[in-house]
Amino acid sequence: MGKNKELDYEILDESKVPEDVRLLLDEAKNVMKNAFAPFSKFKVGAAIRTERGNVYRGCNVENASLGGTICAERGAAMASIASEGYGRFKAIAIASGSDDPAPPCAICRQFLAQFTDPDVPVYLISVKSGVLKKFRFGVLMPYAFTEF
Ligand code: THU
Repeated sequence: MGKNKELDYEILDESKVPEDVRLLLDEAKNVMKNAFAPFSKFKVGAAIRTERGNVYRGCNVENASLGGTICAERGAAMASIASEGYGRFKAIAIASGSDDPAPPCAICRQFLAQFTDPDVPVYLISVKSGVLKKFRFGVLMPYAFTEF
C-alpha cells in the first residue's frame, strides 16, 4: 500500500508495521473489549505511548445521561497523566469497529492537543475491516488552542 500523496494520511498494512506500532495497536484493540457501550454499542479503545516509553489505555465508558459519556481517548490521556503526571504523548492508537476506523471526536482532539505535538502519529485501526490509517496529529487538530 504505502504512501498516498493525494491524501493527508497513509494507509498502512498492519502486518508490516514496526514492533512498537504493533504493540500500540494491540493494546488499543485489547482495551476496546472493556468498553462500556450499552447505549451506542460502539466500542472504542485507545492506547497512548508517552515520552517515558510507557503505554496507557482507555476505553469509552457510556452513561445513561449520554452526555456524561467519556471517550476512549480521554480515558487513556487521563490514565497517563494520573500515572506519570504531565508528559508529552509520542504515539496514539485508536481501535474501533466501523469499516472506516473512527477518528477521535473534536472534544478528544482538543484534550489530546494539550499533550501532543503536531508531528505525533495517530494510528486508526478497524477491528472489522482491518483498515489501518496513519495521520499526523496536526492534520486532525490544526491551530490547536493550548495556552492563554
Ligand atoms: N467514542 C469514543 O470513545 N471515541 C471517539 O473518538 C468517538 C466516539 C465513543 C463515545 C460513545 O461511547 C460512542 O463512541 C459513540 O459515540
